[in-house]
Order: sequence, then structure tokens, then C-alpha cells
Amino acid sequence: MIQLINVHKIYRQGATEIIALAGVSLEVGKGEFAVIMGPSGSGKSTLLHLIGGLDQPNRGDVLVDGRLISQLSDDQLTLFRRATVGFVFQFFNLLPTLSAVENVMLPLILDAQARSQAYSRAERILERVGLAERKNHLPEELSGGEIQRLAIARALAFNPSILLADEPTGNLDSKTGAQVLELIREVNRQQGCTVVMVTHDKEAAGFGDRVIQLKDGMTKKRRRS
Ligand SMILES: Nc1ncnc2c1ncn2[C@@H]1O[C@H](COP(=O)(O)OP(=O)(O)OP(=O)(O)O)[C@@H](O)[C@H]1O
Ligand SMILES: [Mg+2]
Repeated sequence: MIQLINVHKIYRQGATEIIALAGVSLEVGKGEFAVIMGPSGSGKSTLLHLIGGLDQPNRGDVLVDGRLISQLSDDQLTLFRRATVGFVFQFFNLLPTLSAVENVMLPLILDAQARSQAYSRAERILERVGLAERKNHLPEELSGGEIQRLAIARALAFNPSILLADEPTGNLDSKTGAQVLELIREVNRQQGCTVVMVTHDKEAAGFGDRVIQLKDGMTKKRRRS
């Protein structure tokens, strides 16, 4: 389970302070597919970074499976990011000089797994996301939809319990986007992987179980009319 308690994130740039998150509290249950929506600049990506341990809040707590992210040591944090969380961020995790299969193998190799074992696992995952035929392609030799599926494959290398996706269909046409969303939902349903996905797209949001609205760094309170 993911739990955010009164989380504040403030970026300082010279004399100015940007309040990206102003006291966000929310919970995402195990196996849930939560969607985060909200205007540009409302703190959506910041929220994913904090859940994934890529950054720390200035105030408040982020708990994942009962573990306080801010109290993990650097080594524990590295392992958490590699093994517990799968990231699907645009321009985030694919290395341009590695082939598709090598990109999926990389986190396993970094975890000191044998090359042959990493290779066969990577092959299996590529098959799963429908990229078996493209395993020797470089990212630049793939279409936008294939790149997103490769990013998902890489995120799945470790069987993460949480998948964090930041606008995974941002640059895709609606048909290709729907394929990527189907894949994410399949991972959610079949593996019980908890998903937190940011999107601007109402249709994409429909793939989730629940939509959380962010506005000005706060979860939007619904007023009764
Ligand atoms: N590293 C940073 N340094 C300074 N300010 C930042 C940094 N990262 C984000 N911000 C600011 O924090 C606020 C929230 O940014 P964030 O990227 O979380 O928004 P977002 O909701 O993901 O927006 P978008 O929909 O455009 O991706 C924005 O005002 C942004 O300019
Ligand atoms: Mg963003």
C-alpha cells in the first residue's frame, strides 16, 4: 500500500520558492490502479517521484508497504527503486545505445544476475509486451508505441509490486495508446501490481479504478452543491 501523509514539496530557485505539493494526503491500496489527473504544474510528476523514492518531501511522510521512504539508507533506496518500483517515464529509463533486449536486461545485470539468466528473462518479458520481433532494435529504431511498451518491459524486469507511469500515452495516437493502456491494465490485473498513472486524457483515465484530482499541489476537495 502507498500512503502519503501531509506531503509538502518545495523547490527553491534562488530567492523564489515553488510549492509543488502543499500538504497532500492520499492512499492507494495494494493492487489498485489509481489515476492522477490535474492541470500542468499541479504537482503530478513530483508526486510520482516521491512515491518512487527519486526525491524526498520537505515535510510529511511517504510510506510504501509500511516502509518510510525517507528513512531508507542510500543502499536500501537503490534497491527499492530497482526491485520494488517500476518506472514508466518519458525519456527516463531507456538507454539509446542499447538494444531492446539489453535495455530490459540492464536492471537485472546491475543486480548481479547472470547474463544468460537475465537474457532469457528479458526475452520472455519482451514477448509478453509484444516486442519479441524487435528485441535487437535500438530505441530509435522503434515506433512511439513500441518505445512505450519497451519502457514497460524494462519496468517489469523485476516483477515490481508498484508501477508508476507518467503520461505513458502522451505522444501516442489513440489506438496505440489504448494498446499501451491495455498492457498496463493487464499487468495490474494479472500480477496484482499496484499502478499509479498520471494522465491528461479522460479516456486513459477510464482504465483505472479511481481518479485522484490534483490542483495547485493539493488533492481537490469536492464541494457539495
Ligand atoms: N526540479 C525542479 N525545480 C524547480 N521547480 C520544479 C522542479 N520540478 C518541478 N518544479 C515545479 O513544480 C511544479 C510542479 O511540477 P510537476 O512537474 O510536478 O507538475 P505536473 O503536474 O507534472 O505538470 P505537467 O502536467 O506539465 O507535467 C511546477 O510549477 C514546476 O515548475
Ligand atoms: Mg508532469
